[in-house]
Amino acid sequence: MKTTPLAINAAKLQGHLQIPGDKSISHRSIMFGAIANGTTTITNFLTGDDCLRTIACFRKLGVVIEQEGERAVVFGKGFTGLNEPSEVLDVGNSGTTIRLMLGILAGRPFFSTLIGDESIGKRPMTRVTKPLLSLGANIDGRSGGEYTPIAVRGGGLTGIEYRLPVASAQVKSAILLAGLQADGETTVIETSKTRDHTERMIQHFGGKLEVDGLTIKVQGGQPLQGTNVEVPGDISSAAFFLVAGAIVPNSEIMLKNVGLNPTRTGIIDVMREMGADLQVKNEREQFEPVGDVIIKTSTLKGTTIEGDMIPRLIDEIPIIALLATQAEGVTIIKDAEELKVKETNRIDTVVRELQKLGAKIESTNDGMIIYGKQQLLGGTVSSHGDHRIGMMLAVASLVCKEQTNLENIEAISVSYPNFFNHLESLLK
Ligand code: S3P
Repeated sequence: MKTTPLAINAAKLQGHLQIPGDKSISHRSIMFGAIANGTTTITNFLTGDDCLRTIACFRKLGVVIEQEGERAVVFGKGFTGLNEPSEVLDVGNSGTTIRLMLGILAGRPFFSTLIGDESIGKRPMTRVTKPLLSLGANIDGRSGGEYTPIAVRGGGLTGIEYRLPVASAQVKSAILLAGLQADGETTVIETSKTRDHTERMIQHFGGKLEVDGLTIKVQGGQPLQGTNVEVPGDISSAAFFLVAGAIVPNSEIMLKNVGLNPTRTGIIDVMREMGADLQVKNEREQFEPVGDVIIKTSTLKGTTIEGDMIPRLIDEIPIIALLATQAEGVTIIKDAEELKVKETNRIDTVVRELQKLGAKIESTNDGMIIYGKQQLLGGTVSSHGDHRIGMMLAVASLVCKEQTNLENIEAISVSYPNFFNHLESLLK
């Protein structure tokens, strides 16, 4: 396995970055383009491996998709334009691809099989397949349907009312995508508010749905119409530079065109609560809110992160853990068991890898406790094939006293192929 030495002791980080497209919205723009009628033109599309897998899967279902860099055009023919694939659909590392596609395939009257990489093979799928079975789809997979490979023979769906057992936007989205193809109404009731990109996309593509607090209702059989989608920058990618700017001395970074959907801005709220010198400017609304975020080196204090805040920053917890090592006092993260079923078990990988760098951090059943402020030392660490762990460790190396070497750096291309170019452009 390749081990890559990382930069040590950045003097300061200065400049501005155009943050690459949001991963969740990029996936959905291809999917909605494929199930709508007519042409969908997508700009600022994220060219990370995960989103390219979504394109490859829809091409196997017969959808014509042109993609060159950050521009993609999808020629949708509605749900009925999807055809039985002659090959297995391989989602690679992408949980969003497999779970949302299951919702789409559940309504299609043909046979399809889905596989992914080693990490996908360990991620739970019955949370999605169980409600889809209740809608009327035939789905099975390894270990009683829990793991890939998963086979679907869809069609003949009838709307259901379903109370989500976990706070998961992927599960909610899969049920809504199946509900769009079902007879009658489908109701999803969330436990906590999760990212609402699917709900916004349904409306952006001309569909209707009702949202009342944690309850979402969608009618089956609605036609969707192709449209233009300008993907906002990914706040989950911006998060690495927000934290880098806050912890590296003498820094000031402007991150442009960052998605500011309130279901995703937990990182901003928590950083402010911890004392970060963070400003949001130039806020504007497309079908998703966006703005520019400025971060300066900050004096930070520990905090407690729990409850409804967790889904609003679930993907940012690895980088928040690093931030907490550089804050005075204790930071407690709880109610975050979902971290155990991400690309890796992120409670274990975050705690283990940060300990290797000299951090004082311990795992709990549903999160972690971090003791700051701690001078990180350096050492050899691994992404464990998890993009967000890899980027967190790269940012950690900036405040380590000695050299840090990162194993399995390639994983970062899943969500941020230009990450190191962007980082280098800020190093002064
Ligand atoms: C996502 C939802 C979240 C998140 C993932 C993307 C989405 O997963 O962690 O990176 O695009 O819907 P869960 O739904 O499993 O919480």
